[in-house]
Amino acid sequence: MKPRHFLDLSELSSAEIRRVLNIGSAIKAKRRRGERAKERPLEGKVLAMVFDKPSTRTRVSFDVGMRELGGDTLMLTGKEMQLGRGETIADTARVLSRYVDAIMIRTLDHAMVAELAQNASIPVINGLTKMTHPCQIMADVMTFEEHRGSIKGRTITWSGDANNVLASWVHAAARLDFTLRIASPPELAPRPELLSWAKKEGAEIVVTTDAFEAAEGADAIVTDCWVSMGDEDEFRRHNLLKPYQVNKRLMSVADKNAVFMHCLPAHRGEEVTDEIMDGPQSVVFDEAENRLHAQKGILAWCLGAASE
Ligand code: CP
Ligand code: NVA
Repeated sequence: MKPRHFLDLSELSSAEIRRVLNIGSAIKAKRRRGERAKERPLEGKVLAMVFDKPSTRTRVSFDVGMRELGGDTLMLTGKEMQLGRGETIADTARVLSRYVDAIMIRTLDHAMVAELAQNASIPVINGLTKMTHPCQIMADVMTFEEHRGSIKGRTITWSGDANNVLASWVHAAARLDFTLRIASPPELAPRPELLSWAKKEGAEIVVTTDAFEAAEGADAIVTDCWVSMGDEDEFRRHNLLKPYQVNKRLMSVADKNAVFMHCLPAHRGEEVTDEIMDGPQSVVFDEAENRLHAQKGILAWCLGAASE
């Protein structure tokens, strides 16, 4: 039987995304009621976490999530593995499949994650590539809905670099039926293939270079860092992205109940001001917390161990 991978939201149906979110929320509710020690659906299971790039939230939330569900984790880095000395991705996938129950991987190379999944007989989870960050958007949707109700039919505005996080927002817009407005400089606009995919899927996507036009009446304003991992040598980004900073002026044109979201880490004073990060509309730390709960939904779903 083909393993249940979690590679991209574009590869999941709306019902599957909802199922994963529901599992995560149900486990979160139980944890809140103090029932967390009673259920250990992943007892005896081991997750290998392969990190080629730094992480705080993804690493800690998968690690703690796995343990709280009764399982164990193994932390690996590409450099310490034989992968770094030329062992193929396919062979690595075959070998890891004999030892552990699932693999979560963070690497910039999207094709590598796909190849790992193709050759693994266990679930593979995308923990961020240069192209997408699907786990993040699960936590983001969960957070939006906790604060503002169903995301269906709502308007989410992205202001900034059309990066990996934005790509997963595009996938989510197609699957969960909300409008996504994207404001970015032409040089850092969404990839044409991403937009044509969205069009084919019937997603409501508006692309503009004007952050204020995009933010008008929106239910959420979302941004991310100006310099993603792998873009460190692109100094022009700072000038290009200045007009897309989320500050009081931009936030004031959104709906009065709009929330501010950011996957973190934030670069305060660049893509967002302190005033917005720490202000009443910011839900960024709930969003960070929800990585833990969403991750549990993903793990339980991939491993067929959902309790609801
Ligand atoms: N948002 C996110 O993925 O954070 P980390 O890079 O700390 O994992
Ligand atoms: N876009 C950022 C997200 C970090 C969680 C990056 O890829 O570095």
